[in-house]
Amino acid sequence: MTQVSTAPPATGTAAPGPSGRLRALLAMSGNPLDYVTGLRDRYGPVVRIPLGWRDMYMISDPEAVHEVLVTSHRNFGKDVMSAGRGKWAAPLEVILGNGLVTSDGTFHRKQRRLIQPMFHHERIAGYGRAFAELSDALQSGWRDGDRLDLQVEMTELTLAIVARTLFGVSLDSEVARTIRTAVPRHEGPLRWDALPFARHLAKLPLPGNKRFYAGRATVHAIIHQLMAERRRGDGQGADLLSLLLAARDADTGEPMEDAQVRDEAITLLMAGHETTASALTWAYHLLGSHPEARERMHAEIDEVLGDRLPTVEDLPRLVWTDAVLSEAMRLYPPIMGVARRPLEEFEVCGRRIPKDSFVAILPWVVHRDPRWWPQPERFAPQRWLETPPSADAADELAGHAVRPGRPRLAYLPFGGGPRQCIGNAFSRMEGVMALATLGRHWEFEPVPGFTVDLLARITIRPRNGVPMSARRR
Ligand code: HEM
Repeated sequence: MTQVSTAPPATGTAAPGPSGRLRALLAMSGNPLDYVTGLRDRYGPVVRIPLGWRDMYMISDPEAVHEVLVTSHRNFGKDVMSAGRGKWAAPLEVILGNGLVTSDGTFHRKQRRLIQPMFHHERIAGYGRAFAELSDALQSGWRDGDRLDLQVEMTELTLAIVARTLFGVSLDSEVARTIRTAVPRHEGPLRWDALPFARHLAKLPLPGNKRFYAGRATVHAIIHQLMAERRRGDGQGADLLSLLLAARDADTGEPMEDAQVRDEAITLLMAGHETTASALTWAYHLLGSHPEARERMHAEIDEVLGDRLPTVEDLPRLVWTDAVLSEAMRLYPPIMGVARRPLEEFEVCGRRIPKDSFVAILPWVVHRDPRWWPQPERFAPQRWLETPPSADAADELAGHAVRPGRPRLAYLPFGGGPRQCIGNAFSRMEGVMALATLGRHWEFEPVPGFTVDLLARITIRPRNGVPMSARRR
């Protein structure tokens, strides 16, 4: 069993960690997740990892995470890449511009206040129909026995959903087709993310870089074109782009500038589809090797839905389906890490963390802490059941995750505090409705002999896809 060191260190001492910058860098660029989980087991809740050019401080105790993300959040910036080197665009900024994910300080707070209402529960509930209809449309093209790459299928689905909800276009429209092919996924600067010389690599005339900048230019042009169309129309659209254009600052009454609307739109486009696709893909991968959990999900879907598509009103009854998604995001959190830059030196768990260092909180590691997650490697959706049925009575894990006493940030696929994912409720609803819609008619079996491998960079995703056989139920 994994052991977590709990011995309290002397107050204000330097954080322990491995030595050897090159070794750490190589380990981080190989299989970082096993490496960092091993470091937490060995060194405790605060570990200093010497990367090529600077130290990363990994914090994995939920109370310490709460201190960074919630209690003292104003003492931290998000611009971890620029510290100490002068301001230069970090890889994510190159694609997302100055949208909600990458902006900071008072500007970010102003933008978040403007955009938050677009993600209120009633607003998202209005998208429920799109979630179900688009999931249904996806499965209509499948044939019994098809071998499908679930990663490709789920990305197609979540892109269709974001195209509809953000831009009001269907996936077979010209606009969506162009977005689909132009979106720079893991090219150029996004590939070099963790490397110290990323900004130099990003400027080289490599084919991947060229595709990245060309794709970005195309997506920008489309968003500007859509904005112009909205302006020519009645401006009353329900899609997120119309809402971004209509938003007014509460204090000044000013709208956003065009470039800002574009950055916010591209941020929602990028942040809003691959993450949910990844959560769904991992859920199917796990269900593939846990037939009993899969059958339980199908029995629930049959009972709740019978022969119809799900609606938002069905969600409270799809408890097992919801638990499957929660548990999949515990074992495979789609975003690898939440990074922060301390604006001043601070102390956590008795360890000193220098100003301007790179603080990293890795959900993968936190979600495997045996203090809060007994049998951490076990896929057990029953952990999430508020009222486990009597059939689960003998299982010590049943209801474990929702018992009082577990620190809130022992589970953080969506981060925490004021910068918690704005799309949290959106993607949960989307995910459960997709599982329920697809589960009415289909189940998926792993392809014998294929080993699913993962790639952990900015996201945690399958390296070579997740091929599965589709069986009509
Ligand atoms: C399973 C799906 C998703 C996961 C796991 C996820 C994860 C995260 C995480 C961990 C953060 C916090 C990063 C930080 O604090 O540094 C974040 C922020 C964000 N996410 Fe998501 N996300 C998901 C879906 C979505 C969707 C569907 C949207 C939009 C439609 C979205 C938009 C955003 C935005 C705009 C931010 C920045 C919020 C801010 O800083 O104010 N995400 N997400």
